[in-house]
Order: sequence, then structure tokens, then C-alpha cells
Amino acid sequence: MKIKHIILITISTLILLTCCIIGYNKYFDSSIKIGANGFVNKKNLIVYYSTENMDKIAQNLHSKIGGDIIKLEPVVAYPQDKEKYIERLKTEKRSKKPILIKNIPNVEDYDLIFVGTPIELYTLSPIIKSFLKEPELSGKIVLPFISYEYSGGARNILEFKKILGKNTTVKNGLIIQKDGGNSLSTRITMWLNSIKFTRRELKNMK
Ligand SMILES: Cc1cc2nc3c(=O)[nH]c(=O)nc-3n(C[C@H](O)[C@H](O)[C@H](O)COP(=O)(O)O)c2cc1C
Repeated sequence: MKIKHIILITISTLILLTCCIIGYNKYFDSSIKIGANGFVNKKNLIVYYSTENMDKIAQNLHSKIGGDIIKLEPVVAYPQDKEKYIERLKTEKRSKKPILIKNIPNVEDYDLIFVGTPIELYTLSPIIKSFLKEPELSGKIVLPFISYEYSGGARNILEFKKILGKNTTVKNGLIIQKDGGNSLSTRITMWLNSIKFTRRELKNMK
């Protein structure tokens, strides 16, 4: 009888211990195993603009975090010709009018909004600036990522903060030169880890 009891208690303890270890690992796993729509019911949206390089960056990010992805397009398409494109950017930079966006997403459906932009004429792309002025972004978590060639950096992340204001949380941004080359994927993973884009942290992100 006594031996039976001891065996029963030992087996129960072993089962309990195994369950605890499995549960702990599941909850505190900090690696980025990302499928659809992020973790713990937070819904991700990637919004970006690109003429080329940012496409690659946004797609790589999407392959890691899942969720929805949208490339913003202006109602009046940008010219293909480089000189005309620069002229248009200059006009938009001077103007106070928001750019009309053809495919603006309903951000109310999402909790985490990754926003990707190239640096154009020392600042964020005008279409992204217009998007950041959407009042519905208030109270959300915005995760900026930028592509630059020669002058982009932390001050461009500050632009995000300035436009979005105090009610929106802006996480540390990812700054990539051109399309990031061979280290793109690693850089993105490192960034996600650095902003604690993990199961555990997402719960407490705000
Ligand atoms: C019209 C124009 C203006 C640019 N201005 C800047 C700039 O001020 N600073 C910078 O670092 N890169 C600048 N770039 C380089 C882009 O930021 C860089 O090539 C980026 O990867 C472009 O992303 P995309 O190919 O997705 O549009 C400019 C590029 C263009 C076409």
C-alpha cells in the first residue's frame, strides 16, 4: 500500500513537472516563430510606400510577422519619369494639403501598425506623412521602418513621433540602407527582437 502510494505520488509529480516545463516554454518562448496575425490576438498591419527597395523590406517583414500588408498608392499616380517624380515630390513637400490615398486601410481593425517609408528629399515620403495624420492612428502602436541611401536616420524616426503625437506609441525604428542587401533578413529579425516583438512582450506592449 505504502509503495503504491509512493509510486503514485512520484508519477503525479513527474507529470506535473513536465506540464510546467512545457507551459513555461510555450509562454516565455522569445524566438520569433511568427505565423498569421501576430500573437495573443494582436492584429498586425504593414503599411508602406515604395518605388522599389521598400517593397523588398516590407515583404521580408511580412514573411516573418504575418498579418495584413498594404502598399499605399496616391489617387493621382506618381510619374515614372525621375525628374517629374522629383518635381511632384517637391510640390507635395511644400504643400500643406494631404495627399489623397487610393487604398487607405481601416486602421481601427489593427493593434500594431508597422509603417515603412523611403527617405525622399530628406524626409518621409509625402504619402506616408499624409497617412500618419489619420486621426484613427491615435492610441495605436506604430512601428516605423525606413529605407534611405545617404541621409536617413534617427531624426526621421523623430518625424514619426512628431506627426503622430503623444497619444500614439512609436517604437524604436528599423533603419535600412537601400534594400538591406544580404543582411536584410537578419536585420529585421534583430529589430523585432530588440523591440521585444515576442509572445510575452506583446501582451504588455502598451
Ligand atoms: C527622389 C528621391 C529622393 C531621395 N532623397 C533621399 C534623401 O534625402 N536621403 C536619403 O538618404 N536617400 C534619399 N533617396 C534614396 C532613397 O531613400 C532610397 O533609395 C530608398 O531605398 C528608396 O526606397 P524605394 O526604392 O522603396 O522607393 C531618395 C531617392 C529618390 C528617388
